[in-house]
Amino acid sequence: MNVLVLGSGGREHAIAWKVKQSKNCTNLFCLPGNPGTAQIATNVAAGVKDFEAIKKCVLENNIEIVICGPEDPLVFGLKDMFAADEQLKDVLFVGPSKLGAQLEGSKDFAKEFMVRHNIPTAAYKSFTKETLTEADAFLEQLEAPYVLKADGLAAGKGVLILEDLEEAKAELRNMMGGKFGEAGNTVVIEQFLKGIEVSVFVLTSGKDYLILPEAKDYKRIGEGDKGLNTGGMGAVSPVVFADAEFMAKVEERIIKPTVEGFAKDNIDYKGFVFIGLMNCGGDPYVIEYNVRMGDPETEAVMTRIDSDLLSHLVAAAKGDLSGEKIEISKDGALTVVCVSGGYPEEYKKGLEMGGSEYLYSNTPCSKIKVFHAGTAMKDGKLVTSGGRVLAITVNGEGIEKQRETIYAEIAKIEYEGKYCRRDIGLDLLNYKG
Ligand code: AMP
Ligand code: GLY
Repeated sequence: MNVLVLGSGGREHAIAWKVKQSKNCTNLFCLPGNPGTAQIATNVAAGVKDFEAIKKCVLENNIEIVICGPEDPLVFGLKDMFAADEQLKDVLFVGPSKLGAQLEGSKDFAKEFMVRHNIPTAAYKSFTKETLTEADAFLEQLEAPYVLKADGLAAGKGVLILEDLEEAKAELRNMMGGKFGEAGNTVVIEQFLKGIEVSVFVLTSGKDYLILPEAKDYKRIGEGDKGLNTGGMGAVSPVVFADAEFMAKVEERIIKPTVEGFAKDNIDYKGFVFIGLMNCGGDPYVIEYNVRMGDPETEAVMTRIDSDLLSHLVAAAKGDLSGEKIEISKDGALTVVCVSGGYPEEYKKGLEMGGSEYLYSNTPCSKIKVFHAGTAMKDGKLVTSGGRVLAITVNGEGIEKQRETIYAEIAKIEYEGKYCRRDIGLDLLNYKG
């Protein structure tokens, strides 16, 4: 099969890396891809929201299946464009329709979906400028901390958690006043959930589903989960507290009603569902849905799938996963993200990189995999081009040994201002329940 992966980050490198291992993968393309994907695929220079360029690439290269990495093209209706186009309608597509993508594109839509299908989530109400007085009254009924969420896409930054009621009221006004642009026209205020988070990944055909390995994400820039929010600084899979009993509750209370909800609501959803969960004393609650895989969780998750991912994706896109069985390695994976100094605020780009042989090869059997996230080629040299630069994954051996191996490898990677969190996996290593 000829396969096209859309996107340019570590997530897309990891997906491409896994798909490439399928005996059914003939030609692999990434649009736009990065220097990491260039080692295993043909990169096509274009933006993921340039639907005309995507169409041209699909037709020119006889692409049979498109795998959409990021949410943006889905929220803007890429799947719908394929479905409505005579030349594209038979091309398999992994990713939901525009309506399905609202699960990530609108927090209010996602909350209504959960309430409609009895899926456990934090109590909430949505407000606009017109209902500001009611919003204040709702905040007054809740206990601190207060959770405010901009309804629309805000590049992962639209959630504020505030200890003080007056501050919460002030921030509510800032959000409605344009702090996150139009995303904040509607604000969801919700009950604070106390617990520990886990990311659960599902591949669905809209009718049935496979559950991928779960992972834990490390969101803050600083050790001990302090400081500013980032796209994600590391990941661990499996997650000790997501044991069989907990995952059985997740499947019964959340995954089944979610997939059934797609059918009941007539949502065309064939793709990944990323469910951000809070484990509250052993009971799972949904914090958010994303309509894509997580980054950097994917860089850990993909390395634990032993079965043929491309076969699963084809079946999901065709609408029937009943013949597919996912095999998951017992060996765990740990991923650490190397960022550019200053990230998530101002940082330099174009810094020359080197030092590790794995920068240029990722064999399936090597214990260390280096996925490129924000790199570029400049004058024949590998340079940094983003805040999150590389995602390094180590498999097997238990968290303690994984940490040793990964930080030894990271020590070899060279670029000015390299930074990573040194505590990835430590909390799970010491987890007492
Ligand atoms: P979101 O963008 O919805 O994933 O929210 C970002 C982060 O805010 C989540 O990963 C959680 O750590 C936190 N968060 C969101 N909603 C809640 C909630 N209701 N209770 C506690 N923490 C939350
Ligand atoms: N790692 C969290 C996300 O991809 O949204």
